[in-house]
Amino acid sequence: SKGTYEFYMLKEIDEQPGVMRHISQDYLDENGKPVVEQDIVDAVADSDRIYILAAGTSYHAGLVGKNLFEKFSDIPVEVGLASEFGYHFPKLSKKPFFIFLSQSGETADSRVVLKQVNERHLPSLTITNVQGSTLSREATYTMLLKAGPEIAVASTKAYTAQIAVQAVLAKAVGEKKNVADAKEFDLKHQLALVAEGMQQLVDGKEKVDELAKKYLAKTRNAFYIGRGVDYAVALEGALKLKEVSYIETEGFAAAELKHGTIALIEKGTPVITLINDPATADLTRGNIREVESRGASVITMVAKQFANENDDIVLPEVDYYLSPLVTIVPAQLLAYYASKNKGLDVDKPRNLAKSVTVE
Ligand code: F6R
Repeated sequence: SKGTYEFYMLKEIDEQPGVMRHISQDYLDENGKPVVEQDIVDAVADSDRIYILAAGTSYHAGLVGKNLFEKFSDIPVEVGLASEFGYHFPKLSKKPFFIFLSQSGETADSRVVLKQVNERHLPSLTITNVQGSTLSREATYTMLLKAGPEIAVASTKAYTAQIAVQAVLAKAVGEKKNVADAKEFDLKHQLALVAEGMQQLVDGKEKVDELAKKYLAKTRNAFYIGRGVDYAVALEGALKLKEVSYIETEGFAAAELKHGTIALIEKGTPVITLINDPATADLTRGNIREVESRGASVITMVAKQFANENDDIVLPEVDYYLSPLVTIVPAQLLAYYASKNKGLDVDKPRNLAKSVTVE
């Protein structure tokens, strides 16, 4: 039930620190070793390429997952939109392994791909929130998100759970393959930092409400920009904002704006800028100056180690590869408040359904 919450979306955003702790408890032992079915670890470790297929928010979680599997498992990854992949398979590697990300486990676009994977007798794993769902039953293996039921149409805690579970699997596979980056990565400690950081961010939600009131109450459009994993989070932040507030929002790789889209920046256009990537933090600051000089109203969400006193949201310091888990929280809150402050039905945006069972 919603309890004292006006909308499920805020309840589900608030539940995320608990979901991270739950995943850590269930998928990592007391020494921080991943607890994942051995057959799954062996099958992924045996592959020469991972194909992650999904739709919408789950696709965005897959874009983050690519970074995790390439870093910790040392396996190349291709991420595909299920709806495109289903009818235009790329040339596959010799030993592909397929991962389906789906909160509901019922998405028709993903089912089309899995059907063909099965016809080719190739191994697959569904990572889902729903035990016994179709994509779970039809795949070779299943891992559960353990996020608890997600009721709001806009996905929040399933996204962060998908990233955390992919991190567990990436580490398990990397350890089996003796990858130094996996063995050295203290995922248990990092997930504890993430849970704490998420809690600080949800406790600071009033600040995000103020930003929504100041910058998003009247705007027609908005942009999210970031580089590296922040680019993946920019896409998800934009999807959240547009689907619940109806503000036309696009996510961009920060440097791409100047290759065309910067033409859309006018006085007051909100540009929400994400900075966690040490390799590009200064460059993204440069992109902020470019849009500001064209009149944009910039909202910054910046990791503590790069933040200054003018930044709007300071993100708690966590490992770069897990930073999407904390960065997305203020982005989810911004979408929530933009929608609620307009008097919209946050949990049931127009034209949308919780699970999309048509192609
Ligand atoms: C957005 C959203 C959708 C779903 C997409 C896939 O907030 O919820 O984009 O992520 O329809 O759904 P699942 O994960 O159930 O396959």
